[in-house]
Amino acid sequence: MKKLRIKSAKAVRGSVQVPPDKSISHRAAIFAAMANGESEIRNYLFGEDCLSTLNALKSLGAIIRRRGKNVYITGGKLKSPARDVYCGNSGTTMRLLCGMIAGMNMSAKLVGDRSLSKRPMERITSPLTAMGARIKSRRGFPPLFVRGSSDLRAIKYIMPIASAQVKTSIMLAALNASGETMLKEKIPSRDHTARMLPFFGARFKKKGDFLAIEGGGKLKPAKISVPGDFSSAAFFITAAVMLQSVLTIKNVGLNPTRTGFLKALGKMGLKYRIKNRRYSYGEPSGDITVLKSVLRGMDFSADDIPAMIDEVPLLALVATKARGISLITGAEELRVKECDRIEGVFSQLKKMGADIEKLPGGFRIKGPTPLRGASVTGFGDHRIVMMLSLAALAVRSAPYVTVIDDVSCVKISFPGFFRTLKKILVGKWGRP
Ligand code: S3P
Repeated sequence: MKKLRIKSAKAVRGSVQVPPDKSISHRAAIFAAMANGESEIRNYLFGEDCLSTLNALKSLGAIIRRRGKNVYITGGKLKSPARDVYCGNSGTTMRLLCGMIAGMNMSAKLVGDRSLSKRPMERITSPLTAMGARIKSRRGFPPLFVRGSSDLRAIKYIMPIASAQVKTSIMLAALNASGETMLKEKIPSRDHTARMLPFFGARFKKKGDFLAIEGGGKLKPAKISVPGDFSSAAFFITAAVMLQSVLTIKNVGLNPTRTGFLKALGKMGLKYRIKNRRYSYGEPSGDITVLKSVLRGMDFSADDIPAMIDEVPLLALVATKARGISLITGAEELRVKECDRIEGVFSQLKKMGADIEKLPGGFRIKGPTPLRGASVTGFGDHRIVMMLSLAALAVRSAPYVTVIDDVSCVKISFPGFFRTLKKILVGKWGRP
């Protein structure tokens, strides 16, 4: 347990660099392990979730070498592991590996930590089973016993929920199935997989509203470079917004299926600039400068959610500072993340004085409200802890100190979060 006391702050200033993208790092490592030969992944995220993926791939037979910020993975010779495959806290690791193993002649037992063991897996086991894989779970929850098969069949599948993890899991199984798998999403989720797999030699076609994945091909090794994580940048965008400051965040991934939070803030009145736009290995990136702005409350619904799924807790925080009512709906998926993020955000922001109501799939928030310090819990969820740290800095009503019960989980996605945050704070952490 690592408790943290945070005093409110005046402003942030300067520029920050955020860690490499978590979703892109996971995918690059898994695709490299499937490809025959050595791949190079530059700027890999060495956060706990992506380390879980590397360790899991090692136990499945991939040869992995780290050199500085890069990893080199030799794949193509995966085999059934001798022990359980531990996926830690990472839903992406478990769901993607399940899809990968489903299409290979091997079997494995995938296990996770306490939080992951409570996350729903039926969303992947159901389509993968329809393709011919044999998967046993604990009534839809981990652990998963996956018995893969080299003769999976292609399916036509309309995804009932918007989930990039489910989409990628099916796509990985589809690569090893016979025939053409047809996949349709009602609301588009992040598309890193479709952007990256062609570098590993896989080809997809758009057929109307469907993505068509041809099975039976072999992946070849690739070189990938990972941009900064927009979801990590979102914490600094929020810091600047909450503290009415100007701040630049450098080399951030700007894939439009990820930047919904910036779009949402733009609708609320945020002014920002994007410079140094680049394009590398299928992914756009650039430097974001947040300018001082006055925000107003807005409505966001189901169509807006997938492109900002991990940033909804931050949107709720920002809404406490915006003038008027913000209504966020259609975000039921937040209930099955690392914790129940609707309950988590609601209960802790309420303690800090927010005018917030919880809804089945979101929140109704009235602003602006000056937040006050409190003793809060992050539920061991990295994104809730980081959101609460920013709420703590933005406190404008006594007491000016917030205590967060355990902040060690930030290393899941953002090792060094507090170090980076301290560097840009103006003056000491203290009363404004
Ligand atoms: C992820 C997809 C999202 C997101 C998670 C990472 C991914 O989950 O919340 O942090 O890398 O594919 P869902 O696809 O389940 O919404």
